[in-house]
Amino acid sequence: MLHSALLNVMVGAARKAGRALKRDFGEVEHLQVSLKGPANFVTAADRKAEETLKAELMRARPGYGFLGEEGGLQAGSDASHTWIVDPLDGTTNFLHGIPQFAISIALEREGTIVAGVVYNPANDELFVAERGKGAFMDGQRLRVAGRRRLADAVIACGLPHLGRGDLALFRKEFAVVQEKVAGLRRFGAASLDLAWVAAGRFDAFWERDLSPWDMAAGILMIREAGGFVSDCDGGDAMLARRSIVGGNETMQREIVGLLKAAGRS
Ligand code: IPD
Ligand code: CA
Ligand code: CA
Ligand code: CA
Repeated sequence: MLHSALLNVMVGAARKAGRALKRDFGEVEHLQVSLKGPANFVTAADRKAEETLKAELMRARPGYGFLGEEGGLQAGSDASHTWIVDPLDGTTNFLHGIPQFAISIALEREGTIVAGVVYNPANDELFVAERGKGAFMDGQRLRVAGRRRLADAVIACGLPHLGRGDLALFRKEFAVVQEKVAGLRRFGAASLDLAWVAAGRFDAFWERDLSPWDMAAGILMIREAGGFVSDCDGGDAMLARRSIVGGNETMQREIVGLLKAAGRS
């Protein structure tokens, strides 16, 4: 596994911010928490992690743009490169002491994601991918699962919550998918859900109403692990349409088909 210097910068930044998140996770009851909207929490840990990541990444490449969940977009002098960062994906899990949260960093070049890192500081699992060079977890090459039958598949999803998403549509989708598959899961950190598809733990994942920082690194990870990714309508506009389906070629197609059927029902 040969990592580029830039991927090493991304990994170094994720580990540094991750150490602080892990400390805060241990004393979460002392953290300052505020609400961005209904059931949409942000903590001092989210903000601090974004500051650390921004400082590390901008130090290595001062001209690149930076898009972070908490600070929004800062344009750079180099218009062709942008960091896309979720400093703490799975804040709700984090606040509840559930060790399923991550730092997600992607690098976009001319509109294409060329490198991605998803790091869970709670269990120290590190997922990395570079365009054309594969996806790895802790040094091991990743492959999406090979299952071809929905009846054997474990599928993960996101779901609408207070103040966000189309609950009626989700209920139809859930009902249609649930009838066909071996198991359905909802873990609560989209970047990890996608990395887990790349690792073959989930056969597929779908979610609507996501933001670029939830998906950017995970999209590359699934593709580099031999999988397929689309928006929920089967197109290539995940970031623009804010939705995603990922899995092996069969699973991705099957899930898109089920979601379309649910939408017509
Ligand atoms: C959230 C998580 C969650 C997904 C939400 C995201 P955050 O990100 O990825 O799994 O269902 O849509 O907003 O706010 O914890 O970074
Ligand atoms: Ca958030
Ligand atoms: Ca997120
Ligand atoms: Ca976040």
